[in-house]
This record gives sequence, C-alpha cells and structure tokens, in this order.
Amino acid sequence: MTQLGEDRVYEQIGEDGFDRLTASFYRRVRSDDILGPMYERARTQAGETDLEEARVRLRDFLVQRFGGPTRYSEARGHPRLRMRHMPFAIDEAARDRWLALMDESLDEVGTPEPSKSVLQGVFAHVAEFMRNR
Ligand code: HEM
Repeated sequence: MTQLGEDRVYEQIGEDGFDRLTASFYRRVRSDDILGPMYERARTQAGETDLEEARVRLRDFLVQRFGGPTRYSEARGHPRLRMRHMPFAIDEAARDRWLALMDESLDEVGTPEPSKSVLQGVFAHVAEFMRNR
C-alpha cells in the first residue's frame, strides 16, 4: 500500500523526469568522496564498464515504485533492497550524503511539486532503512 500520491509521481514527471534525476544523481556520485568508492566497487564486482548500468537499475526501480512500468522486477526480480545494500557500509554519513546528492539533483532538474516532496519523503524513509552500521 503506497501513501497518498505516490503512484501519481510517474504521471507527473514521466520517464523523462526519472531519467534526468538519476543522470544528475550519478554525475554527483562519481566524484563524491563517500559514495564514489562504494559505487565504484559495486561496478567492478559486477564486471561493468561504467555506472550507466547502475543508473538504469535505480531509474527503473523508481519508475516502478512510483507508478510506471515494471521493468525493474522483470529484470531483477524482487528488489530485496536491504539485502542488496548489505555489502556496503551504510552509516549515518553515507545515508545523509545519499539524500543530500538526491536533493541537489531534484533541484538541478527542477522536479515539480508535489512529486518532489513525495520523492523526498520516500527517499528519507528508505535511506534510513538501508542503514546497516
Ligand atoms: C542510504 C544510502 C544509500 C547508499 C550508500 C546506497 C548505495 C548503493 C550502492 C553502492 C549500490 C550498488 C550500485 C549498483 O550496482 O546498482 C546501490 C544499489 C541500489 N540502490 Fe542504493 N544506496 C542508498 C540508498 C538507496 C535508496 C534510498 C534507494 C531507493 C529509494 C536505493 C535504491 C537502490 C537500487 C534500486 C539499487 C539497485 C539494486 C539492484 O537491483 O541490484 N538506494 N545502492
């Protein structure tokens, strides 16, 4: 059961909104002193050449989570997000940085209300759930 308005986000910002948001986020991740090395390690372990494939996983997850097509589960199955984040040491600093980079990205791409607030609420909740240190 989603909170009021969550499945309306896809209606409001569409594929393009999630595409631009995740592109902006991953641009920031690359040069981030806390998150950069974590995503880089994940990339190496997955045998991938750049972070584009990780960006697409996040984009497709968000598209599905907020009311769009279910490509994420078709490709990856059940999200099991907490388990998938266990290899990474996610403490308060990592959680706060993830949320800060996402805030900057929401501003950069100009994600409109009410989608922006709905996204921020879910991000804060899920990021805390991912904390494992
Ligand atoms: C709390 C701070 C967080 C950190 C440090 C973090 C870090 C990471 C890292 C290093 C990966 C591996 C990149 C890849 O290969 O896909 C990943 C994957 C992923 N993260 Fe996070 N993450 C955080 C929060 C979140 C939140 C809040 C969400 C959702 C709203 C999220 C959704 C995902 C998804 C969907 C994947 C791909 C899972 C898969 O199918 O393998 N993460 N994250």
